[in-house]
Amino acid sequence: MAKRNKIALIGAGNIGGELAAIAARKQLGDVVLFDIPSKADFAKGKALDLMQNSAITGDDASITGTSDWADVAGADVMIITAGVPRKPGQSRDDLVGINLPIIRNVAENAKKHCPDAFTIVISNPLDVMVWAFQQWTGFDRKRVVGMAGVLDSARLQHFLAAEVGVSAKDVRAMVLGGHGDDMVAARGYCTINGVPVSQLIASERLDALEARTRGGGGEIVKLMGTSAYYAPATAAMAMAEAYLLDQKRLLAGAAYLDGQYGYKDMYLGVPVVIGGSGIERIVEIELSDAEKVALAKSAESVRGVVDVAKRLSAQQA
Ligand code: NAD
Ligand code: LAC
Repeated sequence: MAKRNKIALIGAGNIGGELAAIAARKQLGDVVLFDIPSKADFAKGKALDLMQNSAITGDDASITGTSDWADVAGADVMIITAGVPRKPGQSRDDLVGINLPIIRNVAENAKKHCPDAFTIVISNPLDVMVWAFQQWTGFDRKRVVGMAGVLDSARLQHFLAAEVGVSAKDVRAMVLGGHGDDMVAARGYCTINGVPVSQLIASERLDALEARTRGGGGEIVKLMGTSAYYAPATAAMAMAEAYLLDQKRLLAGAAYLDGQYGYKDMYLGVPVVIGGSGIERIVEIELSDAEKVALAKSAESVRGVVDVAKRLSAQQA
């Protein structure tokens, strides 16, 4: 008998709820919204609300809420948003002390209950949390990826579309590196239906749009008092769909580098192909000298926070 996929959402907060709604709408599988015991009823209530939503939209998917890891056992896909988002004035890196032990708790349980899942980590600081999760679970590095580049690229795509006055459907952008204020917009790969953006937008305006993209998360945090969640959820679900449907999509993802781009033993945002085996390929694209310098700066920022995480882990051991 055909069996629906099982999608475990670890964290039933803002992004978790939107992830569940998208998964149901796309009928990608049955969804389990997981949260901590003090938020179990919240997760159950969110799941019930979403099931009633499906009664209107006609989506055939089971959505349940729980705080029992046994209920997410055997998940095909696990998307992790467990942790706190930043508040106005905070950087993503400021979250490392709070979110690292949370990711450790998730990793210990995921290792026991969801060893075969394709895992997408969203929690911040993203490049460090996905690295820590993979380290603590020992999961195949090709089946642990971080979501950031799809979101950051979408932000730039929106800004480029608005600048030129075209549909964002026709815009492609590639934002790489760490999910921080020094992320790298690979300008040479940004096009509007194949037309390089440099032919349509003045260089200083491109500089400004790329800068706004780097600050895109903080702009929303300042406006809303918390992080964005609609676009982050859509971005992560696009990655999950690529895996579940074996779509072989080329996307920007935080992947484990073992020499690619000259970096080893770290997660960093690079072009990857996601299909039924997970991260099926890391695509090494040509970067300008300026982009290589920017990527090195971004990688250094990530390494710095990884070092903080290592020190914190040693203290918490
Ligand atoms: P949120 O506070 O709405 O939801 C987080 C949920 O995690 C809460 O419900 C909380 O109870 C839960 N949680 C805490 N500890 C847990 C544990 N041990 N196990 C399971 N659940 C646990 O936050 P949000 O807006 O959904 O953001 C979640 C995370 O995603 C934050 O760290 C935020 O910074 C990050 N984020 C990343 C990106 C990205 O591009 N990678 C984008 C937006 C937000
Ligand atoms: C934030 C997300 C975008 O912190 O990472 O705003």
